[in-house]
Amino acid sequence: MQVTLKILRFDPEKDKKAHFKSYEIEADPLDRILDALNTVKWYKDGTLTFRRSCAHGVCGSDAMRINGRNRLACKELVGDIGKKITIEPMLGFRILKDLVVDMEPFFEKYRSIKPYLINYEDPPATERFQSAEDREIFDETTKCILCGACSGSCPPFWSNSEFIGPAAIVNAHRFIFDSRDQGSDERIAVLSQSEGVFRCRTVYNCTDACPREIPVTKAIEQIKRVMLYNR
Ligand code: SF4
Ligand code: FES
Repeated sequence: MQVTLKILRFDPEKDKKAHFKSYEIEADPLDRILDALNTVKWYKDGTLTFRRSCAHGVCGSDAMRINGRNRLACKELVGDIGKKITIEPMLGFRILKDLVVDMEPFFEKYRSIKPYLINYEDPPATERFQSAEDREIFDETTKCILCGACSGSCPPFWSNSEFIGPAAIVNAHRFIFDSRDQGSDERIAVLSQSEGVFRCRTVYNCTDACPREIPVTKAIEQIKRVMLYNR
């Protein structure tokens, strides 16, 4: 099929502002958007810049805005998107070049919620045991691949660069609800700040955007309940 890719381009060494450029390519309906971008880069314009690594929905590096929705380019089929495809970097992030955005503020927020097990007791001789039921409580939020698609689809995140954003909250959930963890108070202290969890306006864009099908809004609401009602 003949496809028109309209891609937002920005070269910080040449451009004052980003602009769209269109490319006509031949693609198979079963090609992924990542294949289409590679076709442009390899055969039409080698200056096109975008992140990608695993090409299998695992590394989280190729989240971008595809026809207005944040998606992983390696998971979307050209045939499902259509013959006219607009590709932009995620909103709410500073553009470094073309589709590559500055992820450092995102990871700084992620680090702020202490995304690791905290337990102040002496380590047991074997592993710290946990029942299957207790493990199930935070199973969904273990699946995050830190692609940023949720935060980059969140209107409060677009308008307030200080908002901690859904991805950091999801990763706080993964530990706050872990029965072996003792760091909840430290994480909740971060999430209680003015740019913390209550900046969320329950828009649900994050849940729609998540390529791992994590119920992001539900996880955020569960944290709000713990903070408001201790349950
Ligand atoms: Fe990506 Fe989903 Fe994790 Fe958000 S919660 S960073 S959308 S994997
Ligand atoms: Fe790794 Fe798409 S390239 S998730």
